[in-house]
Amino acid sequence: MAAEPLLRVEHLCQYFGPVHAVDDVSFSVMPGEVFGLVGESGCGKTTTGRSIIRLYDITDGSIWFKGQRIAAGTLSCRRRIADARRRMRGASPEERTALAAEIAEARRQLREAVRDHRSVSKDLLTRIQMIYQDPIASLDPRMTVYDIIAEGLRIHGERSKETIDGKVYGILDRVGLTREHAHRYPHEFSGGQRQRIGVARAVVMQPEMIIADEPVSALDVSIQAQVINLLSDLRHEMGLTVLFIAHDLSVVKYFSDRIGVMYFGRLVELAGADELFAHPLHPYTRALLSAIPLPDPLYERDRRRIVYQPKPEAEDAALREILPGHFVRCGAAETESYLREAEA
Ligand SMILES: Nc1ncnc2c1ncn2[C@@H]1O[C@H](COP(=O)(O)OP(=O)(O)OP(=O)(O)O)[C@@H](O)[C@H]1O
Ligand SMILES: [Mg+2]
Repeated sequence: MAAEPLLRVEHLCQYFGPVHAVDDVSFSVMPGEVFGLVGESGCGKTTTGRSIIRLYDITDGSIWFKGQRIAAGTLSCRRRIADARRRMRGASPEERTALAAEIAEARRQLREAVRDHRSVSKDLLTRIQMIYQDPIASLDPRMTVYDIIAEGLRIHGERSKETIDGKVYGILDRVGLTREHAHRYPHEFSGGQRQRIGVARAVVMQPEMIIADEPVSALDVSIQAQVINLLSDLRHEMGLTVLFIAHDLSVVKYFSDRIGVMYFGRLVELAGADELFAHPLHPYTRALLSAIPLPDPLYERDRRRIVYQPKPEAEDAALREILPGHFVRCGAAETESYLREAEA
């Protein structure tokens, strides 16, 4: 039997008024896996990450971590209740009985969602840590590096100075900084060093899962590789599971086991990293791939950049499994043509 996923995101919706930042996104991440989430600016990657660590109350769907539901939205329950109430008018007695049962069931699920959402322990939530997209904005300029890294430990109830010292200095050393750096402020560091501070702040909590939100996109290419290597080493050493967010597919390629591609709040394709690069199926993924420069000048000369032209979605569009483990968002009628393409 396959292992249980460490993280399961089910029908996640995060709406900000009319903006559907994340809309019906589902995926799971297995223990020890690196799951890459890619897509262009504004497609909802950060919102997905922030929803998982509960910086937002999610609009709808569920998030499960280690078998526990850590976040649950209620929109679909509320809609079901409103819809059944509307249909009550003019319904026959038998229909009314069925609708009353539907309302009772939706109410029960809503109560369960609220209860699960409220009863999650802080301990469980600290098992997931986030490395933030913008290392400048996410590090408080008035705090020393020591206090930045120690903050989570203190909030978590650690009082012993000796323990905190040990952990902070130990982790600084591990991420390639020194003890002397501890009493300086974020602005005194380079971009790469700041991101190391962000990594230290996350891993000092000894999480099981890291959400790395474009951890290197603000850095020079030469520095990017160093930070990716650090994350990769830590991942193996600490047995971390990683949700790796990026807008650039080339960055996630070598680091991810599986990749999910987001477009406008939706997951449009999901596959193993090698499979996605070898057989991209969704036109948006193909366009993203065509934007990656190739190291070989001969190929580079022939590279054709594809511009994605979205077509209206099928009414029944959903993430559908075309080949084992390879999913594409499409209508039921389109699966045949995707299958033919995949086998071509
Ligand atoms: N707190 C918020 N309130 C209102 N709208 C928001 C909020 N956060 C994000 N959005 C909107 O939701 C959408 C998705 O934003 P998000 O930051 O998740 O994108 P992203 O994929 O991380 O983009 P980037 O690659 O630029 O970081 C955008 O349209 C954004 O403007
Ligand atoms: Mg973002």
